[in-house]
Amino acid sequence: MADMSGLKGVILAGGLGKRLEPLTRITNKHLLPIYNKPMVYYPLETLVEAGIKDIMIVTGGNNAGDFLRLIGNGQEFGLRHINYTYQRGEGGIAEALRLAEHFVDGSKVVVILGDNLIGCSIKKYVEKFLKQEKGARVLLKEVKDPERFGVAEIKDGKILSIEEKPKKPKSKYAVTGIYMYDYRVFDIAKTLKPSERGELEITDVNNFYLKRGELYYDTLSGWWTDCGLPETLYRAATLARRKALNDK
Ligand code: DAU
Repeated sequence: MADMSGLKGVILAGGLGKRLEPLTRITNKHLLPIYNKPMVYYPLETLVEAGIKDIMIVTGGNNAGDFLRLIGNGQEFGLRHINYTYQRGEGGIAEALRLAEHFVDGSKVVVILGDNLIGCSIKKYVEKFLKQEKGARVLLKEVKDPERFGVAEIKDGKILSIEEKPKKPKSKYAVTGIYMYDYRVFDIAKTLKPSERGELEITDVNNFYLKRGELYYDTLSGWWTDCGLPETLYRAATLARRKALNDK
């Protein structure tokens, strides 16, 4: 088994979740229930199951204190402790990630968006990433509505381009919210300029690695969903329920 001891995990649970109003008016999106657990439990369990023990949650908004009340020091998840930091406003995924720089401290890092749920383990992908000398690794999934995501154009086993929410997607492969980076990610994130939606985009980080020929990928074998819209929140609950009942 690969040595995961130096590897860090970061869960991005900031942002204001406006697309889920009024559900998010009085609480953070990642605390909403998905079947029998709060949303943030799922990405946390995904990291822990992959063998990652050193984890930071980046949160934000008015209810950040509730994460501490809910998760405490992570013992319920088999962790000795867990780290938290706070993002003001919603300047984008790459901005939220930048807040974890001191925590990651030159290590390799697995980043997961707090609203991304998956039906399979990511351990095998993380192990491949650890064997990579350098660069980044993303996980792709074929979807029906690629225009909602970062979309990867693929040819001969290589990613040719990634476009964020393209009007005319070049493929059906969404870039899921699970990203693996080497230590250079924070230097790259510092060079970014806000996009048209006023955010520092994680797609720009991925394209940076891509241009240098250092972006690798796997295609997720299980189901995957985000929970940013009423429809996908509902879908997530259905998939999580099915998995919970099958796992029994
Ligand atoms: O779900 C995968 C998709 O996530 C990717 O395919 C896209 O390339 C990526 O840009 C992102 O798309 P969304 O526009 O759907 O992301 P959203 O703004 O909904 O944010 C997703 C999570 O990221 C959110 O649950 C918490 C975290 N986040 C987001 C923002 C904007 C933060 O922690 N801070 C932020 O400022």
